[in-house]
Amino acid sequence: MFTKDQVKINNLISGTTKVYGIIGNPVTFSLSPMIQNTLSSFLEIDSIYLPFPVEDGRLSNAIRGGHALNIQGFNVTHPYKQDVMGHLTYIDPLAKQIGAVNTLKYEGKGYSGYNTDADGLYTSLKQNNISLEDKEIIVLGAGGAARATLMMAAKYGARSIYILNRTLDKADLLAIEVKKYYNINVEVLPLDEWHKLPGDCICFQTTSVGMGKSKDKAPIDHDDFYKKISVAIDLIYNPFETLFLKKAKRQGSYTINGLGMLLYQAIKAYEIWNNIELTDSQLRQIEDTIERNIPI
Ligand code: ATR
Repeated sequence: MFTKDQVKINNLISGTTKVYGIIGNPVTFSLSPMIQNTLSSFLEIDSIYLPFPVEDGRLSNAIRGGHALNIQGFNVTHPYKQDVMGHLTYIDPLAKQIGAVNTLKYEGKGYSGYNTDADGLYTSLKQNNISLEDKEIIVLGAGGAARATLMMAAKYGARSIYILNRTLDKADLLAIEVKKYYNINVEVLPLDEWHKLPGDCICFQTTSVGMGKSKDKAPIDHDDFYKKISVAIDLIYNPFETLFLKKAKRQGSYTINGLGMLLYQAIKAYEIWNNIELTDSQLRQIEDTIERNIPI
């Protein structure tokens, strides 16, 4: 049986231990080391995962150094998900669509880049029995997280997508990007024109509103907006339940926070690095263990 003590990173590091890590600035609050090291303990794979803070201007050195040191893989987080694309020997087509890379895998001549955010979000929906097939989708926000969400929704059969953003130009550009790859109806609206949306939508909250200093805020305040949402997904996981999710729940929506996406994007990266696919039963055990250990 898998006990809580076994979750702790074992200290049996030897000459054969493979090294992985996360590159970003900052990485201090990242939950990835805990998740990835839990996966290695659980699967009894001889590897360790470390935080690697990379200062501004040092990304290229960090990647070349990592490769020289035989570091087998990295996750990449803010602010390097786009910049890292200029330092890779191969980029997976989905990562190209999303315009960002969050996973590097060691290859002979350099690193290959992947994006596991969209798959992570999709798995989180699947685990909640939510299908996007022929559904009307709302995406709040037009940054990097929105782009991964849009590509995922288009890929998995959404009927139409409404992008609502504070800065309309950014939403317009994103709509053009999605249409380059998918034959789908995409409309753009300012946040205060939510009343033009149809009902029974699945809504993804991808802005940073609801965490940190704005944790008592939601990107749209009016309660009637939330009546249009049957399923509300916030990509934020800290706080566990944002004001957006609270408001949606109050109007009867099914709600999902960002913890599932965080977990499944990490698992997907682990699968890429180790050429494995976790079984459903392994996934469930891992989920339980990690959720019990999350310091939120
Ligand atoms: P990420 O890569 O995590 O998506 P980002 O690219 O900085 O981060 O995008 C942040 C998103 O949150 C953007 O859609 C941003 O809106 P703008 O495009 O208008 O900047 C949105 N956002 C941030 N603060 C906001 C606020 N106070 N009100 C509304 N939207 C906000």
